[in-house]
Amino acid sequence: MEYEEVYEKITSILDGEDDWIAAMATVTCELHNAFEHYHWTGFYRTTSPGVLKIGPYQGGHGCLYIPFDKGICGAAARTGETQDVPNVHERAEHIACSSSTNSEIVVPIKDSNGQVVAVLDVDSDDFNAFSKQDIDLLERICTWLGTVYH
Ligand code: SME
Repeated sequence: MEYEEVYEKITSILDGEDDWIAAMATVTCELHNAFEHYHWTGFYRTTSPGVLKIGPYQGGHGCLYIPFDKGICGAAARTGETQDVPNVHERAEHIACSSSTNSEIVVPIKDSNGQVVAVLDVDSDDFNAFSKQDIDLLERICTWLGTVYH
């Protein structure tokens, strides 16, 4: 599916939806099924200061908790910046929940005060799986999700 089409589909399905969990569940489903290189697609939410908790997600097993000082997800939450990792084996802090993962991208979601309320994590078994188009799409979706959060 084309990237723009995926963005339009997601925002149109969720038009007027203000339930944060329903929105995240729909985003994971639509992204995961739209792209063959998305092998694990999901969210980690800030459920207490400095701690991310899993869900919703699609794919295999994921760690239940990730502290802000651990993992690529933690780096995205801590810095507030997208983490594009073409080869996870070159990032010492990467948490390997699946031995088949070779690259990943993690995008933070911020509320209206700029606080990171969740991160969107996409893992791929391919090396260097994510293009600028992937980054742009995921960042647009996360910016949009930040406006749904309450
Ligand atoms: N990508 C993660 C961990 C993998 S998940 O639990 C699916 C990280 O290093 O942050």
